[in-house]
Amino acid sequence: MERAPVRHNCSGRAENRGTSPRRPCGPSGARQASILQKWLRMDLESALAPVSPRTEPRLTHQALYRLNLRRLRPADPTTPFEPEVEIRTWRVEEAFLRHERRAVVARASDAPTDARAFTRWFASLRQDGPGQHDPLFDWLAEEAGRDAMRWFLCQELATEAGFDDLVALTQLRMPSRAKLELANNYWDEMGRGTESSMHGPMLTALAQELEVEGLAEPTWESLALCNLLMGLAYNRRWAYHSIGALGAVELTAPDRARLVKEGLERLGVSKVARRYYALHEVIDERHYHQWSSEVLMPLVEGDGARAQWIAEGALMRLGAGQRTFERYRRHLWADRNQAA
Ligand SMILES: [Fe+2]
Ligand SMILES: [Fe+2]
Repeated sequence: MERAPVRHNCSGRAENRGTSPRRPCGPSGARQASILQKWLRMDLESALAPVSPRTEPRLTHQALYRLNLRRLRPADPTTPFEPEVEIRTWRVEEAFLRHERRAVVARASDAPTDARAFTRWFASLRQDGPGQHDPLFDWLAEEAGRDAMRWFLCQELATEAGFDDLVALTQLRMPSRAKLELANNYWDEMGRGTESSMHGPMLTALAQELEVEGLAEPTWESLALCNLLMGLAYNRRWAYHSIGALGAVELTAPDRARLVKEGLERLGVSKVARRYYALHEVIDERHYHQWSSEVLMPLVEGDGARAQWIAEGALMRLGAGQRTFERYRRHLWADRNQAA
């Protein structure tokens, strides 16, 4: 029997395997269209909300999210050709990426340009990088109720940018050794050729069992995380930043994956639905080890200037993740905070 469509993410994949379109976790199609129209009428200063202290970034990230969906989705020549939209998007996206970069430039400048020292610096982010050891995850493992876990997963699915597509975009024209490891990583994402072992559909199984689809609108922080990863992977001027961002995901995912898996287990979620987190607790340890030796090491050996870009990308990704954890806690712990 064909599976129903489930996964709709910011890499533009509404994985339609069934017959009727499913509502994504994010804004509905009509709502997204109205967001886009509203955004197109805005002047550039307003659209650049992330860089303006006077405006809030929700609208901008909804618009960027919508445009990221459209940017990668396979289409045909009858699709409207709107270069003016692309140009505005790039300007907004670039302003957002520069804004995020400014926040990490100083810390990234500490990264050594010697390749071996650089990989040690990078690995240390697992301990002291932004957002590490956030108390949200111990709480999810030990205390969160089923509804709280469902809300958390709805946000996570909205931010799930499709690691496979991000890797595929990032590997373009990379030097051979790095390219080979990116291909190896991509092939793992593809279940090494077996559909039942592909990583994306594992999230589908979890989303279906917990019925998280359409549960809540994604927070702007979740959308911003997705928009950041897409912006870095899609634009070649940020290619080394994307290498750093994806490496940071591999480095830091196992600790959080273990705690989410434990929470799901405690709540009686089936083994099949827990599989995505159970797998990433283990496989990302190996992925990071290989990313370090086969991607980070040779790229920095080839050109020490890349250390700064890769370090910035890692810190940008971790900072964006930290912002989501803080927002999730504000939402999920609102009652507790009020009582205090
Ligand atoms: Fe994966
Ligand atoms: Fe991985």
